[in-house]
Amino acid sequence: MKNLLLFLLLAFSIVLIKCKNSQPQIQEELSVGIDPDSGLQIDPNLMLVKGQCTACHSAKLITQNRFTREGWKDKIVWMQKTQNLWDLGEFEPAVLDYLEKYYSPEERASRRANLENVEWYDLNER
Ligand code: HEC
Repeated sequence: MKNLLLFLLLAFSIVLIKCKNSQPQIQEELSVGIDPDSGLQIDPNLMLVKGQCTACHSAKLITQNRFTREGWKDKIVWMQKTQNLWDLGEFEPAVLDYLEKYYSPEERASRRANLENVEWYDLNER
């Protein structure tokens, strides 16, 4: 009897330890990749984009928008025509690469997360 109790205790502890170690580190995965200073995605081109795109306004104008590569190009041309944005010159392709990669309409981050725990009801129910 005593042995059985000991065995159960041991088995229980092992299960507990396993549960503790298998907690997925979701929080860490989500927060990695965002520059805390600007809110922009971390990337080899981050510093370039920060230098070219955050001198006049907050990076929020970028992070809150989703455009295609052409859409971003149009915004840049519009800012050049009306807001005194300079010619990005040789940096333009890299800036567009970056914007397209993280802030295009297809990017997963722009989609609403799936609804969970919704209590659906029957429309015909009366
Ligand atoms: C020379 C100053 C300047 C620079 C540099 C600049 N912008 Fe802008 N941008 C502006 C101004 C001014 C506005 C209008 C802000 C407002 O409406 O409040 C603007 C607006 C925007 C908007 C919003 C456009 C809309 O349709 O609402 C986006 C997106 C944007 N900028 C992205 C960028 C990106 C990407 C870069 C880097 C390539 C950049 N900006 C660099 C001046 C600048």
